[in-house]
Amino acid sequence: MSNRIKLIYDKLYKDNPTIFGEGSLVFLKSVLEKNIMKQGRALDIGAGEGRTSAYLASVGFVVDAVDLSDEAFKSVESDKNIFLHHISITDFEIKYTYSLVNIALVIHHIPKESMFSVIKNLQQNTEKEGIHLYRLFTTNSTFYKQSEGRGYYDDFKNLNELYDGWEIVFDEAFIGKASTQDVQNEVRQVAFRKK
Ligand SMILES: C[S@@+](CC[C@H](N)C(=O)[O-])C[C@H]1O[C@@H](n2cnc3c(N)ncnc32)[C@H](O)[C@@H]1O
Repeated sequence: MSNRIKLIYDKLYKDNPTIFGEGSLVFLKSVLEKNIMKQGRALDIGAGEGRTSAYLASVGFVVDAVDLSDEAFKSVESDKNIFLHHISITDFEIKYTYSLVNIALVIHHIPKESMFSVIKNLQQNTEKEGIHLYRLFTTNSTFYKQSEGRGYYDDFKNLNELYDGWEIVFDEAFIGKASTQDVQNEVRQVAFRKK
């Protein structure tokens, strides 16, 4: 399953290393502008082109950037404070306590049970007042209708329940055109802060 996804992304990035654009970076910046937090270690899951990891490093975080694709991260400069891991997040060993976890447009590729187990582990390994940011396709998306039940699509309920006891510091949804197909998806952008 993840090898099929890796091959798809290897090809997408080879054809166009900046295919996904700035959306996830814009969201990350707007959350960081509104929430004062101390820099520490950040985890960027499905880091893709590398823009969000590069930004986090530029503002003082040490970043673990995890992405399946060997072709990811080709459009940004390397940085001594970014550690690249070409591996599935479900196989990534969590060795640090994070102050920020960025999960943008990736968990629709991962079965809900596996991803929620990773998230629970990360919640325990997140500092007090640490932030988890998500960009997720929702069940109102064309991608969801095409997915045949594979991967996690948000219904505005399951993820919130998983973050019971955390504060929601940002939450909005919008409809947008996909980068890879001429279809419309609903994207939710949500950030949770650990109390
Ligand atoms: C749609 S792109 C999003 C990239 C970036 N986060 C953004 O928002 O622009 C999804 C990325 O997740 C990666 N990916 C897919 N499944 C993954 C997994 N199980 N573990 C880690 N990365 C994965 C893909 O290789 C791809 O780079």
